[in-house]
Amino acid sequence: MIDRTDSGWWRDAVFYQIYPRSFSDSDGDGIGDLRGIEERLAYLSELGVDALWISPFFKSPMKDFGYDISDYEDVDPIFGGLDDFRSLLAAAHERGIRIVVDLVVNHSSDEHPWFEAARSSKDDPRHGWYIWKPIEGRKPPNNWISLFEQRSAWYPNEETGEWYLATFTRNQPEFDWRNPELRKAIYGAARFWLDLGADGFRMDVATAYFKDAKYRSNPFSWNLVPDLLQKHVYDRNRPEVHGVFKEFRALADSYGDRMLIGETHGLDPALAASCHGERDDELHMAFNFDFLFRPWGARSFRESAERWYRLLPEGAWPNFTLSNHDQKRHYYRYRAGADSDGRARVAAAMLLCLRGTPFLYYGEEIGMTCGRIPKAALRDPLGLSTWPLPFGRDASRTPMQWDDSPNAGFGPAEPWLPVNADYKAKNVAAQRADPDSLWNWYASLIRLRKAEPALVSGDMAWLDAPADVMAWSRTREGRTVDVYLNFSGKTRSVDVRAGIAAAGTVAPAGSEVAAGERRLGPYEVFIVTRR
Ligand code: NOJ
Ligand code: MG
Repeated sequence: MIDRTDSGWWRDAVFYQIYPRSFSDSDGDGIGDLRGIEERLAYLSELGVDALWISPFFKSPMKDFGYDISDYEDVDPIFGGLDDFRSLLAAAHERGIRIVVDLVVNHSSDEHPWFEAARSSKDDPRHGWYIWKPIEGRKPPNNWISLFEQRSAWYPNEETGEWYLATFTRNQPEFDWRNPELRKAIYGAARFWLDLGADGFRMDVATAYFKDAKYRSNPFSWNLVPDLLQKHVYDRNRPEVHGVFKEFRALADSYGDRMLIGETHGLDPALAASCHGERDDELHMAFNFDFLFRPWGARSFRESAERWYRLLPEGAWPNFTLSNHDQKRHYYRYRAGADSDGRARVAAAMLLCLRGTPFLYYGEEIGMTCGRIPKAALRDPLGLSTWPLPFGRDASRTPMQWDDSPNAGFGPAEPWLPVNADYKAKNVAAQRADPDSLWNWYASLIRLRKAEPALVSGDMAWLDAPADVMAWSRTREGRTVDVYLNFSGKTRSVDVRAGIAAAGTVAPAGSEVAAGERRLGPYEVFIVTRR
């Protein structure tokens, strides 16, 4: 059971993101669903995760696979019904697993009744819930772009003679967050899920809610597609958003131990850091995406982590992510032939031992990679509009590889996206049975976190180490955990402190480690505890 008085649970939790279409298909329609997730809860418990973030499962025409919502208070029949959500939540809570749902309120679907009313007439009370500009000639009001359509973000609405704004696909018209009635409606939808018992929200493109009041064109930048040569300073990332974050925080806090994590849109960690608020009165966490864009290397990740820690305001708690449904999986990004698994182990130890809440993405625990998807099988609007450039997201959303049976055990029917070609060798069943597998490495690191609270909430200090090695120490209540990660394919020597070996193959777990020089083999991890 979960403890509703534990208001800081999200600081200690290992989060696991599920892309529900792709996790487990219980009813054989080729698409994953909520019952499928419930059936896999025992698996998630065994892996040891504490909280799930489930990508959208609400009513949707699926133009952006659920990120276009047409009813904020219902489950799409593809995924099940509200009772399936209730049942999943109760079963997860029974196991002590929390569930954070995806709140997509920068935009709705164009099939949401709110938008249908809004577009019907300027006199409709909901008209002002969305963003409009009068059509004057053929030129759109400014240079803002639809990321997923690679064209202007302004679309004509004949009924009112106005443009509406949609910066993802044309089917995702954007709300006007300056409108108080709209805000009330959104807070109502948030309450709906909090009342059902959801443990919080992942807030989709949270820093995009506000647009420039003067609708100025974005300045030029050397970004290539999909950003079409512009810096997003006027169509998102406006300061007004902090006021809304404060309102959301007050709402979440009024329910007790719920949490908010925002997706910030813009690759700037400083922007993400600012979303915590100066007085810890905005989002509980804002995604730190910097690892998603870092080249492999001890220096590169250490620099990134140091910068993030520096940027966070007093009292804010860090978080780290290596993969999600929008970017290439990190196993693929850092692949290096026969060294790929070694790198994945180092990456896992980094993610699970740094100071900050780790977010895993389904399948990373078995080293799922991004395969080639034939053009005819592409589904992602971004992938389709930018093909053959490598921006599509389908390769990161392929079905979870459970076993070596047909469809990788995902379900009885052909899945909505093709299963990765490597599934016969790389799957949960095979890796669970192999004590040296990546899966068992993840599970053992998560167990180690539970056994050593210093790894979860301890202070952190960097340790001196050669250039290819990232080393740090976590301390809490007299207990210390030292972590040494060799990011290179060569042996490196480190000066270790005395203690007890906790993980890695440098010394058998539980054996005493004397202070002095130790050799770390290629991609070797060594974790030592001490009292
Ligand atoms: C960010 C989400 O992570 C992405 O998947 C989605 O397409 C856009 N927001 C639009 O909602
Ligand atoms: Mg299904």
